[in-house]
Amino acid sequence: MRSKLHNRRAAKRGTNQDKDILKQSNGKGRSIQPTDLRVLLQLLSPLVIAMRVCLYSVNLTFILSPLLSNLIDNLSSFAIQFFFQYFAPFTMGNKSISFDPAKDIPSLKGKVILITGGNLGLGKQSALDLSKHTPSELWIAARGEESGKAAVEEIRKVSPGVSVKFLRLDLASFKSIKEAARTFLSSVSRLDTLYLNAGMMGGPHVTTEDGYEKQFGTNHMGHALLFKLLKPFLLQTALIPGADVRVIILSSAGHRFGKGKLLFDSFKSTAKELSPVDKYCQSKLANLLYARALAKHVPEITSVSIYPGDIKTGLFTSNGGSWFITVIRNVLLPLTAVSVEDGVKNQLWAGTAKGVKSGEYYEPVGVTGKQSVYAYDDDVAEKLWEWTEKELDCV
Ligand SMILES: NC(=O)c1ccc[n+]([C@@H]2O[C@H](COP(=O)([O-])OP(=O)(O)OC[C@H]3O[C@@H](n4cnc5c(N)ncnc54)[C@H](OP(=O)(O)O)[C@@H]3O)[C@@H](O)[C@H]2O)c1
Repeated sequence: MRSKLHNRRAAKRGTNQDKDILKQSNGKGRSIQPTDLRVLLQLLSPLVIAMRVCLYSVNLTFILSPLLSNLIDNLSSFAIQFFFQYFAPFTMGNKSISFDPAKDIPSLKGKVILITGGNLGLGKQSALDLSKHTPSELWIAARGEESGKAAVEEIRKVSPGVSVKFLRLDLASFKSIKEAARTFLSSVSRLDTLYLNAGMMGGPHVTTEDGYEKQFGTNHMGHALLFKLLKPFLLQTALIPGADVRVIILSSAGHRFGKGKLLFDSFKSTAKELSPVDKYCQSKLANLLYARALAKHVPEITSVSIYPGDIKTGLFTSNGGSWFITVIRNVLLPLTAVSVEDGVKNQLWAGTAKGVKSGEYYEPVGVTGKQSVYAYDDDVAEKLWEWTEKELDCV
């Protein structure tokens, strides 16, 4: 029964990964694979949809229903998230790589590293850990001059021999991104590692100053423009003998939740019909798919997306408009989240370890195969790439 459902679904979707699944499951006497459990979990999503359909019918009858609908949406996402996080790892056999930043990051001598959102949280911790391996230059890109310069001072104290610089950058403003790129390009001679780390979650239904839904505009569009402006430089660096140029994009396990797909019509609007959590999840799905597209379109560079885990950072504080983020912050995180020193490991691994595969999405640490079925879809990745390129053409 499960196998029939499985086949029907794979045939219908027709993505490469699904076709592989289909081919495999046509084999006789096949034993249960870890992948089956993941796909089975994804098959549970019709249950969630059924719940939503019931609820929307009820919505027609009862005036209170939008609140209720939101509650069920969020609780169902939460239940699946919880399962993936805390039960699935035991059943799926994916083994985390042991990674100690102090010992396992190789010498970064000669390298130039730029980290967006380097003033706080995971970005700052990345900078602190990387600085101990003596890169040639470490750039902290941040909106706030005060917190950016404070981070620079903190890193200089830890690693006095490293050149650490502040770069003003607001990812919600194309004007600011262009200025930042100009300043950066006129000051350095190479760029080896670009951490597209900054991110925001929640907040009111507004757009960036260039008209994109705020979370999508900041988390995806801002980074896409920064990458585009720095790309010639990254490619130039890739030509240097021995160079190993990498772009690490911070996605999230949240890419699986919310609506679970990209709603292209919502990108250039306030998207009031979506909850703040839905919008965050969509922006993180865009981050993941964009890394896949980059790997295809810019093969000279290793591009990956990662999920750091649930980490105690400031991400959950700007929760305007979402009671759900408040619940995560006050109930879930105190129970499950790890420290920023621990949570930073996956991105440090992705930026420095051997064997990191371009286009992959990694959960902590170095674990593959956890993305949603939708996130494997090369056609959607291509559609996002083309959509983004077209938008950035006239910038
Ligand atoms: N913490 C988690 O559990 C978790 C889980 C999954 C994914 N992530 C991802 O990890 C990344 C880092 O987040 P974090 O946990 O370290 O959170 P954080 O402590 O809140 O840091 C977020 C960083 O992004 C910056 N930022 C936000 N909006 C910006 C803008 N418009 N322009 C430039 N910078 C901006 C913030 O700078 P300001 O000081 O100017 O606000 C801050 O430096 C994010 O992409 C997030 O989505 C985190």
